[in-house]
Amino acid sequence: MSTRRDFLKTTALAGAGLAATSFMRAAEKAPIVAPQRKRTPSKDGRIRVGFIGCGFRSQEHFNNVLSFLDTRVVAICDISDFSLNMTKETFKKKGKELPKIYQGSEHEYENMLKNEEFDVVLIASPWEWHVPMSVAAMKAGVPYVGVEVSAANTMDECWDLVNTSEETGSQLMILENVCYRRDVMATLKMAREGLFGELTHCRCGYEHDLRAVKFNDGKSYSYVPGTELKMGPGAIGEAVWRTFHSIERNGDLYPTHGIGPVGNWLNINRGNRFVKLSSMATKSRGLHKFVVDNGGPNHPYADINFKLGDIVTTMIETINGETIIVTHDTNSPRPYSLGFRLQGTEGLWYNDGDTIYIEGKSKPHQWDKSADWLQKYDHTLWKKYGDAAQNAGHGGMDYIMMTDLFNAIRENKPVPLDCYDAAAWSAISALSEQSIANGGVSLDFPDFTRGKWINRKPHFALES
Ligand SMILES: NC(=O)c1ccc[n+]([C@@H]2O[C@H](COP(=O)([O-])OP(=O)(O)OC[C@H]3O[C@@H](n4cnc5c(N)ncnc54)[C@H](O)[C@@H]3O)[C@@H](O)[C@H]2O)c1
Repeated sequence: MSTRRDFLKTTALAGAGLAATSFMRAAEKAPIVAPQRKRTPSKDGRIRVGFIGCGFRSQEHFNNVLSFLDTRVVAICDISDFSLNMTKETFKKKGKELPKIYQGSEHEYENMLKNEEFDVVLIASPWEWHVPMSVAAMKAGVPYVGVEVSAANTMDECWDLVNTSEETGSQLMILENVCYRRDVMATLKMAREGLFGELTHCRCGYEHDLRAVKFNDGKSYSYVPGTELKMGPGAIGEAVWRTFHSIERNGDLYPTHGIGPVGNWLNINRGNRFVKLSSMATKSRGLHKFVVDNGGPNHPYADINFKLGDIVTTMIETINGETIIVTHDTNSPRPYSLGFRLQGTEGLWYNDGDTIYIEGKSKPHQWDKSADWLQKYDHTLWKKYGDAAQNAGHGGMDYIMMTDLFNAIRENKPVPLDCYDAAAWSAISALSEQSIANGGVSLDFPDFTRGKWINRKPHFALES
């Protein structure tokens, strides 16, 4: 059985305590900002792609990237036979030649980065590897690095992403696909066109019953009742690693699906910024109950003291006077929702009710069904690529995201969602852990842009 000690041994995490030193470290270390690193054209003119971590998430990325005719996957790296076999099947189904495979030690990716030349490296590994791998890729000279969500776990890691991107000139994109969800982009367009008036308040969260993902029998991705309950090396997918974060950490462990869209609505890091947060967590019950219900009271995991509260609530204030409520809810029985609410002085969108109210346009005190509004304000990216996105992962938003990233690469442009977004959004994890550990105390966000937020202009998914 994997234990808490194994987890701490194999990760750089030490929970909330790590956050405390980060503000000092950042101030000591303000690098000179290098100009954007441009890519050198490949011999065949194609975009050279590398992958680190080839598990379930990367299969969705392979499907999209392999459909772009001007790309070539040069090399991939993983440590698991299971994931590499799954990858081989994906390439076979797509009729594509297998790239060079780097496999072996946990640091084999460093050899891949040393030996190969890439235009972009995509990282879809367990959370504890995101920053070491992103930093190594940028330092190895890769001009574009895409990292899965959340990007970073500690405040030091947030700064490492910012400092390394600034020092090297490599573009770091947080692969926050929900920013590309069709309704999220339509409401961004509505907000930009002033339909909601001056924005005042947003709500969002990650409300997803992951109990059957945090445990499985090593054969099925989702736990099947009646089978063996495993986590760690005997399991597959996120049950190998994600469950240990629920044992060791109490905070909003996965804030970016919610806060990414909010960050774009409110122009965070571009004329606005997060100022402070306060977080509280409920007691932890869901995972223990799941273990006992499925494995019995004598199951070895029944003794585990899961630290993660079932529902974590974070309140954030911005410098422009908006407030945001972010929820993390992964251990309870419930249908999926990201719980968006986008509100201003003239109306609001309420995702869970699929409703919109716009003063002067909707009947007084009555909701409109949101569908008509969302269709009317459909974003250009969806109008252009919606058909191609139809069969891609997560309702097509994965395809739109990859298209937007690869368009930036083709044109040597800055990434749509950058290192400052990655840091500010991911910082919620470390700060919420620290706030909860200290009775819900209010904590300041650092300014990862070091003052640049004042003059930076909105950039994400602008329509001409
Ligand atoms: N944006 C989304 O909608 C979305 C959806 C699912 C997962 N994710 C994110 O994607 C990432 C991967 O999740 P997943 O579901 O694919 O998990 P997974 O466990 O299926 O895949 C992770 C892979 O990384 C490999 N790995 C671990 N350590 C490694 C190392 N040192 N070197 C090379 N490979 C290593 C594992 O062997 C595994 O194959 C996570 O950050 C997760 O949060 C995002």
